[in-house]
Amino acid sequence: MAPVPYVVPLVDSTAVFKPEIFKGKVLFCTGGGSGICRGMTEAVMRHGADAVIIGRKLDRLTQAAKELSDTTGRTCIPAQGDVRDPKTLRDAVTKTIEKFGRIDFVICGAAGNFLAPIAGLSENAFRTVLEIDTIGTYNTIKATIAHVRASKGSYIHVSATLHYNGTPFQAHVSAAKAGVDALSAVLAVEEGPHGVRSNVIAPGPIDGTEGMERLSVKGVADKQFAYPSGRAGHVKDIANATIFLFSDAASYITGQVLPVDGGSEHMRGTMVPYPQSVLDPASVAHMIKPRL
Ligand code: COA
Repeated sequence: MAPVPYVVPLVDSTAVFKPEIFKGKVLFCTGGGSGICRGMTEAVMRHGADAVIIGRKLDRLTQAAKELSDTTGRTCIPAQGDVRDPKTLRDAVTKTIEKFGRIDFVICGAAGNFLAPIAGLSENAFRTVLEIDTIGTYNTIKATIAHVRASKGSYIHVSATLHYNGTPFQAHVSAAKAGVDALSAVLAVEEGPHGVRSNVIAPGPIDGTEGMERLSVKGVADKQFAYPSGRAGHVKDIANATIFLFSDAASYITGQVLPVDGGSEHMRGTMVPYPQSVLDPASVAHMIKPRL
């Protein structure tokens, strides 16, 4: 029988961390109305925090806020805004302070993406993604920093791993996310002495998200990536990393980039079948030089 790879289990953060570690804290999350950021928000709320989610579509945001409040027993409110427009972010911050009086955690998560080759990408398309991801992150930091300083709080920026290599059709996002990583590092250094931490979570491919739907090439998705952890990512995997990085257990961690991708960043462009080659090295002996 062929060897079977180990598949890491999916756990809830509440099975590992105490449910009340974020009691009295307030989260401000851009892009929190859907996908990964919504999952991050839900997890933070499950540990006792209240939240404000920011996005462009008020209907979707209002519905998400209601569901998040219902499922967690905490309070989530929507604030309509576009991270490209600093005024809407300032208004969202004002709404947050009026409702909750503080901001402890910020997730800079709003992002735009699509597959397009450099030669086919319009100047406006390239600029749009940089404006959402990179300038949007800057705008979010600028709008929130005074309050995060006051609470000695913490930032998490949602980036990616695709810019570690030259990923085809992702020039706009690669440039944008490299900028996000750099902003986070500077934020950590400048604001560390004020008691603020800043880290990046770099998700790999996450099943069931709009991003994965948009970015996976039909019919090839399953074969595009290889996972040392045995499976594609789940929103919960990103949520669990969020809980850790916002928690006091990570109080000495700042200015870091944490890929949460089941190890797949190390698996780009494998030359041998995976995972068969690591489960049964002898099966690929004919393909690689002696001394396996
Ligand atoms: N391929 C090539 N160009 C594209 C594109 C695609 N799939 N989608 C948008 N663009 C271009 C547009 O053509 C336009 O350029 P142009 O003026 O030269 O024609 C430019 O990008 C801006 O697009 P527009 O739709 O006017 O801007 P927008 O602000 O409404 O939305 C995005 C831009 C990127 C946010 C949009 O794709 C979107 O709404 N995405 C949903 C969120 C998302 O991407 N989630 C996944 C996160 S991983």
